[in-house]
Amino acid sequence: MTASNQRDREKQIAAEAAADLVEDGMTVGLGTGSTVSFLLPSLARRHRAIRCVATSPRTADLARQLNIDVEPFTTIDRLDLAIDGTDQITPDGWLIKGGGAAHTREKLVAITADRFVVIADSTKPVELLRGPVPVELLAFGLGSTLRRLNDITLREVPSSPDGGVIGDYHGPLVNPRETASLLSNTPGLIEHGLFPPEMVTMALIGRGDRVEVMTYSSE
Ligand code: 5RP
Repeated sequence: MTASNQRDREKQIAAEAAADLVEDGMTVGLGTGSTVSFLLPSLARRHRAIRCVATSPRTADLARQLNIDVEPFTTIDRLDLAIDGTDQITPDGWLIKGGGAAHTREKLVAITADRFVVIADSTKPVELLRGPVPVELLAFGLGSTLRRLNDITLREVPSSPDGGVIGDYHGPLVNPRETASLLSNTPGLIEHGLFPPEMVTMALIGRGDRVEVMTYSSE
């Protein structure tokens, strides 16, 4: 098996384990990315009576093609469960997300859920987070925000579905809580991709043929 096939297999088994957590009657947040693209068919096969919100137009389209009911995230004010991938996860549960530029919606959906479950292959766990940290910036005042933060590069990608400009913060990341606080307190910065452990309930990591279960704050 090639390394890429092995990674896909790990994503698949992590996604299956997460789909097993979904029960009839639940409201479910669907993340974004290649790992989530394994989750959606797993979920569809179970034919659960669920209501979902999606963190990106891509996920919403894929889910609807599989007859998964996706609603706008406007009036729903709590979710039973959110399931999403990650770019990195540390042993104590810090995440860097936003490789796919969906971190603003992903964080809002994760914080709305009673349980936030991360699914990943075995390349995602890291001892220490490595930058850069994805960011979404307001177009209004962009020059000012870039000058104040100083360490941001902009990605050559379309704006987010909410009109935000996507970039990456290359500044210090020795203490993720301090970096998260700096970014959160910067006017003009809409959201960043650092997710603290208290947001994460559980991680399901595919390793070879088995799924490693890590539990964090609220489980
Ligand atoms: C998108 C994300 C993704 O969850 C993250 O990039 C992981 O993606 P993949 O499952 O493709 O490795 O944060 O903004």
